[in-house]
Amino acid sequence: MKSNPNLLLAWLWILLGFVSGMVLGLFFRGEDWLGGYASFKRRMYRLGHISFFGLGALNLLFWLTVQHFSLAGQGISVASWAFIVGAIAMPICCVIMASFPKAHLIFSVPVVSLILGGALTLTLLVQAPKPTDPANTALRTSDNPKLRNTELGSSVNPQPRWLRYDRSAGFQPAGSGGILPPVHRFQQSLRSLSTIHH
Ligand code: HEM
Repeated sequence: MKSNPNLLLAWLWILLGFVSGMVLGLFFRGEDWLGGYASFKRRMYRLGHISFFGLGALNLLFWLTVQHFSLAGQGISVASWAFIVGAIAMPICCVIMASFPKAHLIFSVPVVSLILGGALTLTLLVQAPKPTDPANTALRTSDNPKLRNTELGSSVNPQPRWLRYDRSAGFQPAGSGGILPPVHRFQQSLRSLSTIHH
């Protein structure tokens, strides 16, 4: 099976969130388990449990963002690995810290990694050319339908028909249809206006 590492890690982490919750659930009724609900040790285990969901969801969001905006390149690869390292390191740090509170500096690994991933993703998103920008030939749908990136979804992951504005299955220009019919209408008005003025 060929799949994206962020997507795989996302669902594996969500699954481990359930499993870690089940393990906590076996013991959590005991008032004094691990020194009581507010004890440092128990808080660290709880944080580990929750971090599986948070960082699983984060990797899923990263993957969706990359797909939706057709982001690629070295920066995106670094961000991808930064999110993976952060997601793996965080629950490990929680477990280590639960027994060795003085080792708090190990949290710098997931923290720095996640900040790097977040900052890179944001920067590359801001810099990403608009899919409809004629200067960006790679994203021009008429030139390369495989890289199409519209409200219809990409050609690789098309949006389901029932989510589309006009339920069409055929090729549509970037920015038309999808779940944003007002945008489509606005674009049509602009087009007819420019025809009148020329
Ligand atoms: C199979 C599913 C799950 C099980 C069995 C489970 C189990 C548990 C248990 C037993 C605790 C208490 C730990 C303690 O007393 O120290 C807990 C806490 C917590 N869980 Fe889960 N959990 C599950 C899913 C989730 C999900 C989906 C989320 C959120 C996305 C979540 C977020 C939390 C949070 C935020 C706490 C801390 C609550 C607090 O401190 O008041 N859990 N979970």
